[in-house]
Amino acid sequence: MNADALYLDLKHKLGDVMPEAELILKAEVAAEVLRLKEERNAVILGHNYMEPALFHTVPDFHGDSLELSRRAAETDKPYIVFCGVRFMAETAKILNPSKTVLLPTEKGGCSLAESITAADVRALRAAYPGVPIVTYINTYADVKAECDICCTSSNAVAVVESLKTDTVIFLPDEYLAKNVARETGLHVIVPKVLPKAGGAAAGTDVEHAMIAWKGRCEVHELFTPEDIDSVRKQFPDVMILAHPECSPEVVAKADFSGSTTAMIKAVEKSKARRYLLLTECSMGDNIVAAHPEKEMLRLCSHRCPHMGEITLEQTRDSLKYLRWVIDVPEDIRVRALRSVERMLAVGPKVD
Ligand code: 13P
Ligand code: SF4
Repeated sequence: MNADALYLDLKHKLGDVMPEAELILKAEVAAEVLRLKEERNAVILGHNYMEPALFHTVPDFHGDSLELSRRAAETDKPYIVFCGVRFMAETAKILNPSKTVLLPTEKGGCSLAESITAADVRALRAAYPGVPIVTYINTYADVKAECDICCTSSNAVAVVESLKTDTVIFLPDEYLAKNVARETGLHVIVPKVLPKAGGAAAGTDVEHAMIAWKGRCEVHELFTPEDIDSVRKQFPDVMILAHPECSPEVVAKADFSGSTTAMIKAVEKSKARRYLLLTECSMGDNIVAAHPEKEMLRLCSHRCPHMGEITLEQTRDSLKYLRWVIDVPEDIRVRALRSVERMLAVGPKVD
């Protein structure tokens, strides 16, 4: 698509929210990205949180963490440009190591991934010997390497159930752990201090339990049950959707909870008049751009600063200068791959 066609498409989708000059500029940058993508024979993966001008122009595939991991594993293109955050790009490298994986920002952090280290996981394993360790995909490769199986927001319950055990260590998102525990019937323990090696397993308190960690998503922890009460009072016909990284109190009051893609699909299927998404704000913008008939309520602007580092301009420069290359040391990659592959075997599949 050339810049003129991209401009018309962006105008149609974002004309109400983006000034004319920006539409023209973004269309030109998007055209450059598409040209460089072809030149490099690259694939671009775009997480659902990408800003609308990027989301609606350059990715070959959109999706949540699980879908994009599968796309990364399947591609035969020599370059994978990951428009998301670092842990996602690392997962792509873990799954498809012969490809060059590029992250369009040097950092691309995540408060959950930063909340736990490989040494923390080793200490937990020593404290609870024999208890399987599940890690959310929002962790770095060295943490995945110490765990038994990964999960994402779309398969966390299925992964825990697949272990067929009544005691599980679930890291590092305390809220996701509590939400999964509610669905699986386990009770949650969040140890304040790690018990000494071997000291906890004999205790009856870990039976039928999910041992969690104190990690939080800095975006989703901002939503409160009071926010929901106040919106429902003003708009009784609203459908409220909460990502499972929100607190269990928030999820309990929502009408639907699921991964970013599950939330998009639920809005697309629903006939409700209005929606409130309790997740990163760009996703609401992306849905409205594709479905202008859907009315999206906004609590305020909760943006993920790490996802926000990725722009069309950064994506262009990533392809132009082949930066920032994601590398994972081979010994860590091989061990992390076991955890990721076990998760992929649980499902669900993407079309
Ligand atoms: P999803 O896998 O649901 O896209 O979640 C990723 C994430 O980081 C949500 O904050
Ligand atoms: Fe991490 Fe939260 Fe940002 Fe998702 S929204 S990448 S969990 S900080």
